[in-house]
Amino acid sequence: MEKKKRILTGDRPTGNLHLGHYLGSLQNRVRLQDEYDTFVIIADVQALTTNFDRPEKLSQDVMNVALDNLSAGIDPEKATIFIQSYIPEIAELTVYFGMLVTVNTLRHNPTVKTEMQQYGYKDVTYGFLGYPVSQAADIAFCKADLVPVGEDQLPHLELARKIVRRFNDLYSPVLVEPQALLSNVPRLVGIDGNSKMGKSLENGIYLKDEAKVVKEKIFSAVTDPSRIKISDKGNPQICTVFTYHKSFNQAEAVNIQEMCRAGSIGCVACKKNLAASLEMILEPIRERRRYYEERPEEVHEIIRRGTERTRSVAGETMEEIRAAMRINYSCIDSGKK
Ligand code: TRP
Repeated sequence: MEKKKRILTGDRPTGNLHLGHYLGSLQNRVRLQDEYDTFVIIADVQALTTNFDRPEKLSQDVMNVALDNLSAGIDPEKATIFIQSYIPEIAELTVYFGMLVTVNTLRHNPTVKTEMQQYGYKDVTYGFLGYPVSQAADIAFCKADLVPVGEDQLPHLELARKIVRRFNDLYSPVLVEPQALLSNVPRLVGIDGNSKMGKSLENGIYLKDEAKVVKEKIFSAVTDPSRIKISDKGNPQICTVFTYHKSFNQAEAVNIQEMCRAGSIGCVACKKNLAASLEMILEPIRERRRYYEERPEEVHEIIRRGTERTRSVAGETMEEIRAAMRINYSCIDSGKK
């Protein structure tokens, strides 16, 4: 039997996942878990880059992200969920990869730059500046072929590819060059019309939000501000609600666009319609969440098993890496039994 290709992707545990994550990456990882040997990383070390001063926050968020993935439809019988900090090989590989990247390359990473602005950092820690290197190690240790991600992760994928190529050229071709997989809607705007739905921007609809909350959020969303009466002709191109129709209600989006332009559907009816469409996606997710929330032991066991399997994969790759880099000293190892 031919070996399945691998996927590795995942999230920083810094809060709950929202529709932007769903569209950008979750949906793809769920869709592809039959076809690919799928690894889902809970990147708690990466989350420390901005939370190193409140580590107590992490343990709750690690569980939240595991629940979000399982609720979204990740099947623990098919996919492997693991915690980054439990794989010491990733830390080791990060150190080796650190030799293959210059500080200037990291400084020019557009996502790192945007995040520095967002967090108001004038200077950064070595750990923050270097997290894309650690992310390259996340991807390389399991020889992932494909990495489903949102658009903001593309610079990190580019770096991972560069590091892998450099490694393979310098030492020996052990590692696999990963491909990014974007969704057809790589970036979802926030309900406030802000360019990106973000955990820190308080403009998101979360997978765990109850139906009532989702409805309230949709009703507060920004539409075409020049539209006062129903009969006013609307401009869907500048309406946040319409961008959501395009992403979550594709079957009706064209029709709604026409009606809005003609002034024959009001914003209230349009928002109600969107809320109903979103429920078709969100209710099954909530149902799975209820199942797992009632069974925390099962969730712990899923993570335990996933982490164990991941360690064994990481151990194997690490042996190849050390051999390629000639940092396995046979004269010393021979005494080992
Ligand atoms: N940087 C990703 C995020 O912010 C999380 C992440 C960590 C990741 N390691 C990864 C994503 C490896 C894809 C592959 O959500």
